Amino acid sequence: MDQNYIDKQVKQGKVLVVINKLVYDLTDFKTRHPGGFKILEKYNGYDVTRQFEVVIRHSEKAKEMMKEFFIGSFQDRRQKVSWDHIRSNQEKLYIVISNNLYDCTEFADNHPGGKEILQLYKNQNATEAFKRLGHSQEAREKMDLYKIGELEHKKAEGNSQRWLLFFIGLVIAYIYKSIAY
Ligand code: HEM
Ligand code: HEM
Repeated sequence: MDQNYIDKQVKQGKVLVVINKLVYDLTDFKTRHPGGFKILEKYNGYDVTRQFEVVIRHSEKAKEMMKEFFIGSFQDRRQKVSWDHIRSNQEKLYIVISNNLYDCTEFADNHPGGKEILQLYKNQNATEAFKRLGHSQEAREKMDLYKIGELEHKKAEGNSQRWLLFFIGLVIAYIYKSIAY
């Protein structure tokens, strides 16, 4: 669940807040909230961790109540991630394109260019290959769905390694195309 999702729900009349990276749907609770509904409407769609814990120190009872309204974890798609973090998540199929981190784990099986090529770039920088393989506008819009973060720094990856990967990628793409047609 990211900010886009929250904004859409709020536009549709829902009351959603984020507390400690967890999302709560307070739509049905707002008229029962002891602190009133106006304050919830004011902060609708925002991260209210500070208000909930520091400005108004909610009781243990309130913290118990909130569990009922939990609907999912908040994904900050602009969170800064390091290469160490990317490489320590071996169970995920992460790919970096133009300094953005994409989680392609679920998408890989449906990738029109095949799963193999994505696996080849697992936890790597695939910017060059992605651009040169001429992805359509539709593909570029679609990839936004999988964005989960941004790279901390623009660290130059070893050039020779990048070119080797790019070359292998081209060969796989060529083989894939020959099989497909
Ligand atoms: C996540 C769900 C929430 C639950 C379950 C909840 C529950 C409660 C409860 C039970 C109280 C009574 C006092 C207490 O027991 O602490 C209360 C008071 C209050 N809450 Fe919430 N609350 C929630 C979110 C929020 C948020 C996001 C805000 C502000 C942004 C807020 C602002 C207030 C205020 C101003 C009071 C009145 C405090 C007072 O009279 O001293 N609450 N809330
Ligand atoms: C989140 C990332 C990606 C998304 C959403 C994506 C999406 C797509 C889509 C929709 C197509 C169909 C053709 C088009 O619409 O352009 C495609 C084709 C392809 N993709 Fe990707 N792709 C991604 C990453 C990559 C990466 C990292 C590589 C390789 C480094 C790659 C290699 C290919 C290849 C070889 C094709 C086939 C091209 C052809 O048949 O001409 N893709 N991809």
